[in-house]
Amino acid sequence: MYAAGDAVAQVRAGRSLSDALERLETDSSLGAAVQDLAYGTLRNLGLLDALLAELLRKPVKPAVHALLLAALYQLRARPRTSHTTVDQAVRAVSRLEPAAKGLANAVLRNYLRAADALVARCDSDTAHYSYPQWWIDRVRAAWPQHWESILNAGNLHPPMTLRVNRRRLTAEQYLARLGERGIKGELVGGQAILLERPVPIESVPGFGAGEVSIQDAGAQLAAPLLDVRPDMRVLDACAAPGSKSGHILELADCALTALDSDPARVLRISDNLARLGFSARVACGDCSAPAGWWDGGLFERILLDAPCTASGVVKRHPDIKWLRRESDIAQLAATQSRMLDALWQLLAPGGKLLYATCSVFPQENAQTIDIFLARSNAARRLPLAGLEQGQLLPDARHDGFFYALLEKH
Ligand SMILES: C[S@@+](CC[C@H](N)C(=O)[O-])C[C@H]1O[C@@H](n2cnc3c(N)ncnc32)[C@H](O)[C@@H]1O
Repeated sequence: MYAAGDAVAQVRAGRSLSDALERLETDSSLGAAVQDLAYGTLRNLGLLDALLAELLRKPVKPAVHALLLAALYQLRARPRTSHTTVDQAVRAVSRLEPAAKGLANAVLRNYLRAADALVARCDSDTAHYSYPQWWIDRVRAAWPQHWESILNAGNLHPPMTLRVNRRRLTAEQYLARLGERGIKGELVGGQAILLERPVPIESVPGFGAGEVSIQDAGAQLAAPLLDVRPDMRVLDACAAPGSKSGHILELADCALTALDSDPARVLRISDNLARLGFSARVACGDCSAPAGWWDGGLFERILLDAPCTASGVVKRHPDIKWLRRESDIAQLAATQSRMLDALWQLLAPGGKLLYATCSVFPQENAQTIDIFLARSNAARRLPLAGLEQGQLLPDARHDGFFYALLEKH
């Protein structure tokens, strides 16, 4: 409880949840429980915040506030163990601030006494959907038919999905292997394997040997859409940690350059490719400033998996809902346009560039592409079968992605 509260407090102070969890000095046997509690708290933060505002008479320190949020989450998620939860929370609060022990006890017991009435009083959109109001407004305006299912999908637990290395075996053969180990799964979108329930990575047969990778079904659409053939010169412009680079090489023996601007993340590209038994030219540089890393040869295929708000992957990263600012969207859209302009110059005539984001905000997606097409007369957008306007909306089985395939003529 103490560690989960600490992680939530760090996110509230602006740190990503994965960084916050990495910094915690918890016993590894407690790691999964802490993670579960921190993720659950952030998934439901809109409601928990509103509940706590009903219960508190005056402000408390951020660390105590975060701990009480985690405790409320636990009380709601596991009502049968409420006495243990209150005890754990009161002990954790007294470790932080002994004077707040009585207050913590009173707040949590008051919640238990009147939970339904308190929840009924929390009737704002943010409490109901657990997203900031601006986010709800934008999704509602962009997707009038689907906005609620998009928001609700983001609050689900993410599934575990595998990508089979087709050079080694087929998805059907791998499914049969899973079955022999008692692991149940099914095919989604033809190739991805969705597990009935997540399993530890060590239990995934053939993972270490590079037979499979973990990758969302929506993300698995990218490499096939890029339509890479053997020996082509291919650039993965924002490649780290290398999931899509690996997939590209599984599909075709091509000359791949995998680029990323983040030095720490670049190291992970080579590790990931090595596990799969591949190599590529791995470079660290800014894709919108090719002079620093480009060898002058045009590419026949370019994947631009652009940095974005990641609004389509909040199932996996619930902290994103609370870390993003509305102004990030326009800033990211400007960066995405700059990248697109620079990379277009590196594409060979007749070549294809796949633009991808894991966002559901049109300003980073269709609008970025429309603006680009309006100023580039050598670019043509190719239709993508099964993806209306290029947008894959998130649901229980996959994350949300946007794809636009552009051809140079
Ligand atoms: C969506 S992630 C890429 C995920 C990756 N394609 C995969 O499938 O594993 C976006 C990446 O863009 C990188 N990035 C951000 N700005 C960049 C730039 N100017 N040039 C190159 N890479 C950049 C980030 O470091 C991040 O790794």
